[in-house]
Amino acid sequence: MVTAAHQHTAPGPEAPRTFPEGFLWGSATASYQIEGAAAEDGRTPSIWDTYARTPGRVRNGDTGDIATDHYHRWREDVALMADLGIGAYRFSLAWPRIQPTGRGPAAQKGLDFYRRLVDELLDKGIQPVATLYHWDLPQELEDAGGWPERATAERFAEYAALAADALGDRVKTWTTLNEPWCSAFLGYGSGVHAPGRTDPVDALRAAHHLNLAHGLAVRALRDRIPADARCSVTLNLHHLRPLTGDAADADAVRRIDALANRVFTGPMLRGAYPEDLLKDTAPLTDWSFVHDGDLREIHQPLDFLGVNYYTPTVVSRADGSGTHTSDGHGRSAHSPWPGADDVAFHQPPGETTAMGWAVDPSGLHELLGRLASDFPGLPLVITENGAAFDDYADPSGDVNDPARISYLRGHLAAVHQAIADGADVRGYFLWSLLDNFEWGYGYSKRFGAVYVDYPTGTRIPKASARWYSAVARTGVLPDA
Ligand code: FCB
Repeated sequence: MVTAAHQHTAPGPEAPRTFPEGFLWGSATASYQIEGAAAEDGRTPSIWDTYARTPGRVRNGDTGDIATDHYHRWREDVALMADLGIGAYRFSLAWPRIQPTGRGPAAQKGLDFYRRLVDELLDKGIQPVATLYHWDLPQELEDAGGWPERATAERFAEYAALAADALGDRVKTWTTLNEPWCSAFLGYGSGVHAPGRTDPVDALRAAHHLNLAHGLAVRALRDRIPADARCSVTLNLHHLRPLTGDAADADAVRRIDALANRVFTGPMLRGAYPEDLLKDTAPLTDWSFVHDGDLREIHQPLDFLGVNYYTPTVVSRADGSGTHTSDGHGRSAHSPWPGADDVAFHQPPGETTAMGWAVDPSGLHELLGRLASDFPGLPLVITENGAAFDDYADPSGDVNDPARISYLRGHLAAVHQAIADGADVRGYFLWSLLDNFEWGYGYSKRFGAVYVDYPTGTRIPKASARWYSAVARTGVLPDA
């Protein structure tokens, strides 16, 4: 929720801004979005392979079978980052590469890929930041019930232990889950993400088991990685705004805040589900899938919170008068918001990206301010921020993307302002290093700082990559 204290301090366009010493400048990717090599070295299908191969699910019938071919071009991609002076690389491990059936011993060939990647990163002075789960659940575990089933959380802890045993000597920063909201509510609620199921109670069960998976995995990691290694989770916290000053719209904000944000921050960071969430969803479920001891298990100390931010969300109490638009997460007849059918979502005013998402850096500034006051002492890292635009290579082979530079500049100014206001923000990861498979949108949306020519795999750093490189090298955000 927006607090009055943060409303009037939106960043202005003044002098060059210097970031704190040691601020981490990174770029981010995810396994299914870039790796390809879907059946190589023992990798089995994940829920995203199955989903993408199902006609009608992903735009143009695109799949991650080849993606950016990073599985074969990883050395070139690390060299690109080194050339750009990027200090940290956030990537995810493909569970079905490391543990093909989702159970039992690790596949050494899968682990070897990540060992080589991490060694190359370290060799080039780039800090590896590994995410255990960026949505590619082994299909066998979905066949056994997927995230609505408690056993999936237990399997995840075993997988986390295998990953930590193999890579814990060289990866010092770990993230358990990426955006569990998407896994639970888009995967099992609206069905616009894999596995494409549409049951509101399954979505809530999935959210709880993802929370549990996080807690169990943090414990498995801490038992194996050195004491100075860091554990975190990445959430796509929705920055919510009421459409009007009416009490009914404030209540819509509260309810979506519970379903989008506090359903995760409650158990993970405070050790309890919010009372209002339990009450709002009581007509659907009594939450008896939360067992004794689960909340203690989920509430593990974290070294930082990863924050993904793209755009704010505007809501109101639906009154049937028209402006009911999609909530930015793709069209579906099914809602990703269990028990909140009377909340309407509205397009925020102003400029948009190729996703149709409003460009609004003040949302990031306000979100960071809220997190700093809600969770004092918890360092924050922007683990994703960026924008898709309709980029193309011009006849001379250059890719000019001034709109992306402007987006990045605005959002980095917002981060800088949040730090100046007292938020403990330690780093920023640009989404994404490369154009890649954008989930339900396939290859139609380009988020990369580096352009990928899909037919040949050729990489072309865009103008924004050169711009970001200068910021990362100097730690200074230049004047506009
Ligand atoms: C986030 C995902 C990431 C990417 C961006 C655009 O929700 O974590 O994989 O698709 O959105």
